[in-house]
Amino acid sequence: MSFVPYGRPVRAAFVGLGRIYDLNVRGYIDNPDVDVVALVDPSEERRAQRQADWPGAATFASAAELASSGIEVDAAEVLLPAALHADGVVEMLGFGWHVNLQKPMCNDLLDAQRMLDAAKAGDRILRVMENYLFYEPLRKLKAVAESGEIGEICGYHMKMVGTGKGGWDVPWSSFEWQMEQMKRGRGILVFDDGWHKLATALWLFGPVREVRAWIGNLSVGPGVDLDAPSTIIWEHANGVRGVWDITLAMDMYLRSDYYTNDERWEITGGKGFARVNRCTGRGIQQPSLEIYTEGEMRSYHALDDDWASSFRDSGDDDWASSFRDSGRHWLRWLHTGDGPLLWGGEEAVDVLRFALAAYASSASGASIGVNPGQAI
Ligand SMILES: NC(=O)c1ccc[n+]([C@@H]2O[C@H](COP(=O)([O-])OP(=O)(O)OC[C@H]3O[C@@H](n4cnc5c(N)ncnc54)[C@H](O)[C@@H]3O)[C@@H](O)[C@H]2O)c1
Repeated sequence: MSFVPYGRPVRAAFVGLGRIYDLNVRGYIDNPDVDVVALVDPSEERRAQRQADWPGAATFASAAELASSGIEVDAAEVLLPAALHADGVVEMLGFGWHVNLQKPMCNDLLDAQRMLDAAKAGDRILRVMENYLFYEPLRKLKAVAESGEIGEICGYHMKMVGTGKGGWDVPWSSFEWQMEQMKRGRGILVFDDGWHKLATALWLFGPVREVRAWIGNLSVGPGVDLDAPSTIIWEHANGVRGVWDITLAMDMYLRSDYYTNDERWEITGGKGFARVNRCTGRGIQQPSLEIYTEGEMRSYHALDDDWASSFRDSGDDDWASSFRDSGRHWLRWLHTGDGPLLWGGEEAVDVLRFALAAYASSASGASIGVNPGQAI
């Protein structure tokens, strides 16, 4: 890869202007590292709505129309329905654009290989954004685990409850493609949202060598199935074990500014534990991070940004700031080329392998070995 950092603001296009645009756009607003030159979506309504943010940007119904317009684009912020990721990204890399792609990368390893090959062939960067890695309480949790403060890590637990009430409005069109994904065996809880949980596991404790899973299927309405209850257990190459339980509580109200997802991460060490109480929603309205050692509980009420100052300009534990910081990291990276991409295409493939191992385990009832970093 012979990437040469840009010595000027990056010319960027948003491709896909749906629900998650509202959060991804935060990395672009008031950011001198970028000029938003184009907006792409087949929906005229979406184009008109989003152009209010970027009056100077040209709008197009497809990426191909933008590519043939003569407008110069350096990088695309790709916010397409997941099933369109592989073909869409291969096409855009072929136009010579760098790509910052929303997760999940794609549904299977063959598509992942096509995407990596297209990036390599065009000498372009494919990043699969992982905003959870920019969520300050999780960054602090990782630092605590690595510091030895709670002793040697014995294991950890992730919890996720999808609730039926609360949160922001999600248009039915955004659910429709998720239902199609579910029919392909890539459900919204384990694969779509779950991608983040699997990514945080790899980020916290490194490669995974073995996975056991029991993935459920729950009908919540005519033709609407969700992949709960589900339980996934794994062992990292370093011997640390993780367990993640996913449940659905359709009648539960959860206070959330975004999706109704109650999440926790709890790491147990030889001397204590550290727990992130919430992320997307506001289920436990306690300090976002608590650390127990030696009979004392320490709480973080307002995480500051001193250890993450290169990524952020203010300290808060709002989940949406993780999108802002992930986007800024990418746009800055295009200027400097320094540091990790968080994540690169190959790292995203490891998340995909982890998910596929969970599906294989659930289908077979067997324990499945994982070979991270192996050629596809
Ligand atoms: N990081 C997170 O926490 C998070 C949260 C939600 C969604 N996502 C991901 O973001 C992506 C988009 O999800 P969403 O909820 O915004 O979906 P959405 O359905 O609300 O938006 C998708 C948009 O893409 C447009 N589109 C469809 N085909 C297109 C094409 N060929 N070219 C350009 N635009 C096209 C649609 O018209 C729509 O406006 C998915 O990959 C999803 O998994 C990530």
